[in-house]
Amino acid sequence: MRQVQTLGLLGTGVIGGGWAARALHFGIDVIAADVKPEMEEWIRGAVANAEGALARLTFAPLPPKGKLSFTSDLAAMARQADLIQENIPEQLELKQRVLAQVSRHAPPDVVIASSTSGLMPSDLQRDMVAPERLLVAHPFNPVYLLPLVELVGGRQTTEAALAAAERFYTYIGMHPLRVRREVPGHLTDRLQEALWREILHMVNEDVATTGELDDSIVYGPGLRWAGMGTNLIYHLAGGETGMRHMLRQFGPCLKWPWTKLEAPELSEALIDKMVAGTQAQAAGRSIRELERLRDDYLVAIQQVLREYNIGAGATLRALEERLYASSAAAAGAPLAAAVGAAAERPRGPLRLLETRVRPEWIDFHGHMTDFRYLQVFGDATDALFRFVGVDDAYRRTGRSLYTVETRVTHKAEARAQEPLYVMTAVLEVDDKRVRLQHALHRGRDAALVASAEQLYLHVRTDEGRAAPLDGAVRARLAELQAATR
Ligand SMILES: NC(=O)c1ccc[n+]([C@@H]2O[C@H](COP(=O)([O-])OP(=O)(O)OC[C@H]3O[C@@H](n4cnc5c(N)ncnc54)[C@H](O)[C@@H]3O)[C@@H](O)[C@H]2O)c1
Repeated sequence: MRQVQTLGLLGTGVIGGGWAARALHFGIDVIAADVKPEMEEWIRGAVANAEGALARLTFAPLPPKGKLSFTSDLAAMARQADLIQENIPEQLELKQRVLAQVSRHAPPDVVIASSTSGLMPSDLQRDMVAPERLLVAHPFNPVYLLPLVELVGGRQTTEAALAAAERFYTYIGMHPLRVRREVPGHLTDRLQEALWREILHMVNEDVATTGELDDSIVYGPGLRWAGMGTNLIYHLAGGETGMRHMLRQFGPCLKWPWTKLEAPELSEALIDKMVAGTQAQAAGRSIRELERLRDDYLVAIQQVLREYNIGAGATLRALEERLYASSAAAAGAPLAAAVGAAAERPRGPLRLLETRVRPEWIDFHGHMTDFRYLQVFGDATDALFRFVGVDDAYRRTGRSLYTVETRVTHKAEARAQEPLYVMTAVLEVDDKRVRLQHALHRGRDAALVASAEQLYLHVRTDEGRAAPLDGAVRARLAELQAATR
């Protein structure tokens, strides 16, 4: 199966727009196809709307953003895409027809994935050419912030297609969850629907309003669910004997039962109560306003969970680790040359980081804002330190380099989308200290935008005091000092 550089989207509504925003952010080009030409404006707006929250999710060095194009010619999209994500309305016959049509134009090594919320992949692949590359990749709204994607194969789906899809979704920062066998509604929507059915019953019987039922989640179980699911939470609730005690204590209630499996009849009266209830909860706020609020807390929650390396925070941490590692790898060649054979050694500062001024880095003057300079210089330092051996494994030994002094001098402005690069030299290395000099240049005219001198102290993090550098790390730094001064 192919390496994905271009994602093709079939259907560009709410979910197609979310896929576009996520893929573009992580450097994948997107060809969006929809039968309605007016959806081009919608998808561009959806991508722009997502940008603010996505930009705050991580400060790790990102590849250049992907490019978005739009077409209403589904076959043209299918011929150019490396992976196709289908997001058209949830109707089996429509999906079967369109997937079959698209599969005639997409080369057989192109994975075709459906965002379907509950249809079975075996049904979807029925009339396709090369049906073995069809799978379900079910995301969650907003696709650009929620990492979960359920991967489900049908009777004809190959392991190669599932593995290729898994690689791609991981690359764009997601958590692929393999579903062992196809069932209607996959995993999450079965669980969500069970909860929703109970909500409908309780609203129907005037047990509670929609707002009260949402409060019953938001103030309690909802907080727990971000880090631990129902099963692990119940294991904790059972005390020392865990799940066994929990089942003994609450098992009988499952037979009473507290809940009703069949959904109530969706009468006009029930629909009115649901609509009036949620409108009261929205309290005059528009969908856009509520979406912004939701996006802001989804970013903040994932950043907190990252500290605990749990759930979506573990996904974010793994993604950042990869982004830092690939930025360091890009800087690896010049660094390796600098400590390589004497005859080929470059002399002087090394070009360690290529980046671009992202729109969200701009201040009210239209220039790159102060703290982003520290971020860019920090990314260059990170690449250099990783090369000499100060990486996660080194830090786990209780040693690291802490910044003790930074002096930045600003010389010229950098505007939005301006290409930039950083030249770095090792000025000084001794037993416990490393001094670096970075120069940030504009790509278009090589003008010096800013320079920074930074002093780092080697510490034992567990003891909180300065300590001598590891011998091998120091030797590497000394070689770089000789080469880059
Ligand atoms: N909305 C959600 O929360 C959510 C979450 C996960 C998965 N899904 C699934 O994603 C899919 C899309 O849902 P949505 O909410 O984005 O729907 P939507 O109605 O917002 O978008 C569907 C888009 O498909 C386009 N379309 C219709 N027929 C087409 C065709 N023949 N060829 C190309 N485009 C066509 C429409 O013009 C529209 O732009 C569904 O299968 C749904 O079950 C939805």
